[in-house]
Amino acid sequence: MNEDNANENVARSLEVVATRAGNLAPKVAVVLGSGLGNFANNVENAIAIAYGDLPGFPEGGVGGHAGRLILGRIGGADVALMQGRAHYYENGAPDAMKVAVRTLAGLGCETLVLSNAAGSTDAEVGPGSVMAICDHISFTGVSPLFGAPGDDRFVDLSEAYDPALRQSLHAIAADIGVTLHDGVYMWFCGPHFETPAEIRAARMLGADAVGMSTVPEVILARHAGMRVAALSIITNFAAGMNAVPLSHEQTMDNAALASRAVQDLLHGFLTRYGE
Ligand code: HPA
Repeated sequence: MNEDNANENVARSLEVVATRAGNLAPKVAVVLGSGLGNFANNVENAIAIAYGDLPGFPEGGVGGHAGRLILGRIGGADVALMQGRAHYYENGAPDAMKVAVRTLAGLGCETLVLSNAAGSTDAEVGPGSVMAICDHISFTGVSPLFGAPGDDRFVDLSEAYDPALRQSLHAIAADIGVTLHDGVYMWFCGPHFETPAEIRAARMLGADAVGMSTVPEVILARHAGMRVAALSIITNFAAGMNAVPLSHEQTMDNAALASRAVQDLLHGFLTRYGE
């Protein structure tokens, strides 16, 4: 989507949100990845806006649930939750989340928390584990900022995953007894899974986990001046690491293994945000 259309869609989406939830001033937004859609049930006085009513937001049902922006309060903090995201692999558009992320920034969100499902390249970190992303490697060669005007498109990603936010996630994890790994996430385009050779390469290059999402949103959020935290639910050992065939069904089933832990972490994070 070109910049003019994107900006117009952001302005129109902001108007829709102002009309429906104008009394709320969220400082933090969360993109709920696979297995976390239910987290939206924690929102008090929730106002749900279908993506279909928000120009430029992802189209159609995403990841098993209707796409909705949910606004309300969790633990004293006004929050904006995205239930469903768009992926690069859907239409080959790396900027599929551009309008959504810029709308969240336009609402006043200063922090974006992202979550996803990922495959582990580390034999010691298996399905059901939770990882805070500390850095990423893009294996796609594309940017959501292709076509963005101005010098601010040259975004510094050296601390893309905010160290203080990550520290806060670790403190909460320790408090609630969740084991939280730290690791580098490698973005593959999908929708096919990786080959065993790609996974060996990923490991050699320094990846701890691989997946098909999140990185474009991180780049868009940093461009929009937001701080970013990101969590991966490890749903499987990556290709070639064991005999279990990879499938989307496995991803969805195994995302449930750590759903409780990640929901508790998010809840703690948002509650502290409100203090
Ligand atoms: N590869 C890519 N994306 C994924 C995987 C994987 O092994 N598991 C969950 N999402």
